[in-house]
Amino acid sequence: MDHLPIFLDMNGKRTLIVGSGVVAARKADLLLRAGSAVTIVAPELGDELSQLEMNYDFDHKTGALCAEDLKDCMVVFGCSQDDAVNQQLCEYAAAAGIMVNVADSTKNCDFTMPAVVDRTPLLIAISTGGSSPLLSRMLKARFETTIPAAYGRLAEFAGSYRDKIKAMVPNLTRRRRFWEAMVSGPVAEHLFSSQVEEAETLMDRLLTEAAKEGDKPPSGEVYLVGTGPGDPDLLTFRALRLMQQADVVLYDRLIGEGILNLVRRDAERVYVGKLPDDHSVPQEEIGKMLIRLAGEGKRVLRLKGGDPFVFGRGGEEIEALSENGIAFQVIPGVTAAVGCASYSGIPLTHRDHAQSCVFVTGHEKDGKLNLNWKSLIQPRQTVVVYMGLSSMGAITAGFVANGADPATPAAVIENGTRARQRVITGTLESLKDKTELAGVKSPALIIIGSVVSLRDKLSWFADKL
Ligand SMILES: C[S@@+](CC[C@H](N)C(=O)[O-])C[C@H]1O[C@@H](n2cnc3c(N)ncnc32)[C@H](O)[C@@H]1O
Repeated sequence: MDHLPIFLDMNGKRTLIVGSGVVAARKADLLLRAGSAVTIVAPELGDELSQLEMNYDFDHKTGALCAEDLKDCMVVFGCSQDDAVNQQLCEYAAAAGIMVNVADSTKNCDFTMPAVVDRTPLLIAISTGGSSPLLSRMLKARFETTIPAAYGRLAEFAGSYRDKIKAMVPNLTRRRRFWEAMVSGPVAEHLFSSQVEEAETLMDRLLTEAAKEGDKPPSGEVYLVGTGPGDPDLLTFRALRLMQQADVVLYDRLIGEGILNLVRRDAERVYVGKLPDDHSVPQEEIGKMLIRLAGEGKRVLRLKGGDPFVFGRGGEEIEALSENGIAFQVIPGVTAAVGCASYSGIPLTHRDHAQSCVFVTGHEKDGKLNLNWKSLIQPRQTVVVYMGLSSMGAITAGFVANGADPATPAAVIENGTRARQRVITGTLESLKDKTELAGVKSPALIIIGSVVSLRDKLSWFADKL
């Protein structure tokens, strides 16, 4: 993040604007609406500022800018057509330790001004850090059309109940649930249709009910959510909604930043990831943690790469929950086989190539592969091997030793669906050497079968090879 967004209380605070054109008028308008005491330094007011003067009071100094003009100012704005005047303002501001913003000159700005969607007291500020004001304005236009004016009313209403709710619902988690229900339920609906009295009656009733629970935490729940193989665009709507509600999140190594950034910002984060040889938090510990956190009344988000029920041990985790009477939901995700196949242009089935598809794990137990070769080596069948990178030599050799044609097409997909995706194609005979040469690392998936030959025609995702 290059900038820190904050909202300043400008009520009664002094600001200075140098210049008198449209840009100066736009800044003055915002500042005056925020209650600031504005002084304009310019030989004369332009049309827009003169217009603004009809509705607001501000000072106008016609003489030249001097250091004294900045006295007691919180922030100052350079909007003059004359660069030398703006430069002078920057020097005075630097000497006085006051933050300055110069229009269209990011290098001379201590801060930038966002595009604002005003639903006071609700404000949405959009910034591109000065790099594309046009994009900010476009997004602002979108928000203006999608956020009803009544949201301001909702925010004001919520504000008027804040202290009362704090006193009547002392438990923090319960209080947060109360707010969530309020802003997305019938109270909000009444406010949106201007039925303020009905909203108040309903609110008081809900509040009395919530207060009866005293300081008791609400009941917790676990959301076992599949996040897909990496591209955040592959999340389901339901996954996203639950990610936004969680109080605490437990996540693995395969969950990338792009997905974690979509989890509620103030949710507590617990890394329980595992590297192939580094089981940082044992599976039983994760189960215990889920039970403890949900028992404290929290909404616990357990994020899993791909789908929780495909080589994800999701079943084991919820078995423990079920035995302990903890409520849970399971949200499917795009499993790596399906995601990698799509993003590498290798259809898992195809009328001319494969009528069936099998998913197996290539994970060795006690140094041995435990695969049913007969069932894998079938005509017109695609085999997808999860966790097979370290045993690739044994897998490809096993296929050939058990009767598969060494020229059978095969591929390995590293970091499937992500920006760093790489796809290496070959045959059962050549894939191991090619993979080693390319230095492929986990996570990687192997696809074996004649469907791999379709990639040349069907590849669409710009990967790194
Ligand atoms: C423990 S399994 C988890 C599978 C997951 N539950 C699913 O449904 O995709 C981890 C293995 O999935 C595969 N995998 C997961 N994400 C992948 C990705 N983005 N690209 C390639 N393979 C991936 C790799 O074989 C990795 O070793």
